[in-house]
Amino acid sequence: MTLLTVWDDTDPDTETLRTEDAEEIADELKQLGVRFHRWPLRDLPELPSSEQVLAAYREEVDRVIDAEGYIKVDAISMKPEDSDEWREKARAARERFLSEHTHDDDEDRFFARGAGVFYLHVDGKVYAVLCEAGDLLSVPAHTTHWFDMGTSPDFVSIRFFHDDDGWIGEFLNTDTAEKFPSFDELMASR
Ligand SMILES: [Fe+2]
Repeated sequence: MTLLTVWDDTDPDTETLRTEDAEEIADELKQLGVRFHRWPLRDLPELPSSEQVLAAYREEVDRVIDAEGYIKVDAISMKPEDSDEWREKARAARERFLSEHTHDDDEDRFFARGAGVFYLHVDGKVYAVLCEAGDLLSVPAHTTHWFDMGTSPDFVSIRFFHDDDGWIGEFLNTDTAEKFPSFDELMASR
């Protein structure tokens, strides 16, 4: 189940909201300009290619492209392997967007498998959205946020872009992200 947790940004120890109710989550996020939708899950091979994921969700993907004007779409997969090489790759991938940043593009993500947490820092509050398979979440351009895929990333997700460069993060150099529960902690808290 998708989980939304909210705190004041000065008080990571006190949750002001914790909900797994999809409608309540969508309502809360709507106030931030964030779209949250659920799509029915389709069958995918164990390690799907980008093309296979996009083909499985063609109809939904095309709807998002039409509505939001995206020009580029791809799918990425992470599946834990028992090797030092994979652990290093996973660590680097996790680190990349693990502290507060903004982009000048929207960040739309659909989770076809697995999970990840988007943290949105807006108006003195931190919203952690633990997305699971079937969830589509949009982070509006210029929204301060970070993303945690956990210490053992395991997901298949579709990404949408308005240009060819992908997301270029502008990092804020704050330690806010370190103060709030991580992906691993939120997963364990349910
Ligand atoms: Fe981002």
